[in-house]
Amino acid sequence: MFETLAVVGATGAVGRIVLDQLADRDFPYKRIKLLASQRSVGREVQVKDQTVKIELLAPGAFQDVDLVIASTPDEVSADFAPYAVKEGAVVVDESGFWRMDPTVPLIIPEVNPQAIAGHQGILASPNCSTTQMVVALAPLHQACRVKRVVVSTYQATSGAGLAGNVELESSVRAHLDGGANQPETFQYPIGFNLIPQIGGEKHQGYTSEEMKMVYETRKILGDEDIQVCPTAVRVPVMTGHSESILVETEEPISVEKAIELFNAAPGITVVDDLDRKQYPMPKDCVGKDDVFVGRIRADISGNGHGIAFWCVSDNLRKGAATNAVQIAELLQSSVASA
Ligand SMILES: NC(=O)c1ccc[n+]([C@@H]2O[C@H](COP(=O)([O-])OP(=O)(O)OC[C@H]3O[C@@H](n4cnc5c(N)ncnc54)[C@H](OP(=O)(O)O)[C@@H]3O)[C@@H](O)[C@H]2O)c1
Repeated sequence: MFETLAVVGATGAVGRIVLDQLADRDFPYKRIKLLASQRSVGREVQVKDQTVKIELLAPGAFQDVDLVIASTPDEVSADFAPYAVKEGAVVVDESGFWRMDPTVPLIIPEVNPQAIAGHQGILASPNCSTTQMVVALAPLHQACRVKRVVVSTYQATSGAGLAGNVELESSVRAHLDGGANQPETFQYPIGFNLIPQIGGEKHQGYTSEEMKMVYETRKILGDEDIQVCPTAVRVPVMTGHSESILVETEEPISVEKAIELFNAAPGITVVDDLDRKQYPMPKDCVGKDDVFVGRIRADISGNGHGIAFWCVSDNLRKGAATNAVQIAELLQSSVASA
């Protein structure tokens, strides 16, 4: 068992859910430390039946720590993860900084649990929009080999952290009051609006958020030939990312086959009955750990090798905290069986 666990970024949108998940999933540990920035030091947080004070993330903080679950900005993870490993901890990191490092496994436990073997102290959890898409693509890839994906995302404001939700509220209020609201987290007011830019320009007009979906999908599925054409859009929804996905496969695939594959795959719930107006929506998926798929239909523009579907998941849970805690559980069972 990992005796001492540290949750880094415990005060953030993801960190708070990590604490809930550790409790809900009964993750075993003897002691827990909560770390964040100077802004939060001394704040008290209830963890199960204990009150725990937030400590400062700084060198020396991991001397007595076995396992870290971290959700901090990229530059913070870049800085602390190496010294946490030097001090003897294994780090499960949610930030974008380590994901494409060849020495760092990038893991979705339902898809590539074997990738934890041979880790060198840091393990990464994928970007939230990648995770839900790859959970859904994995069974299709295994059965029919995915060649190409065209995806448009509808990403919730909590994907930008606690500040994103605060800004959605103030933006909606300002809009209703007829006043002006100066956006800080997003490029434009997000209330009653959509913003077709998440991240900065990264590659041939695609943003950094979009290119994460390209690179991370290939790394997790272990197939550098998969072509992904993403468009990432911020929408005025607090929690729950949605995606419209068109998949082209090497082998022919029918709607019935795709539904059978989704139903048999771990972590996927099919909600698909157009006549009864049944399909996944963010408000129904918040607080749940599965990836929900619906609107499953043939690609009528294609040649029997394509499936279109709609995919929704709670970005703070499977897109972040749940996936990280599942990686920690994998590590726990590999330690127990060693
Ligand atoms: N939100 C999502 O849906 C999602 C999904 C997947 C991955 N992620 C990734 O997870 C990470 C955290 O995201 P979030 O949404 O939870 O953001 P957030 O709500 O802004 O929380 C950030 C956390 O990092 C801490 N932090 C910031 N600067 C720090 C510093 N210099 N030293 C120590 N701690 C510091 C904050 O502590 P203070 O409270 O003390 O400032 C807070 O606990 C990001 O890398 C994000 O890309 C997020």
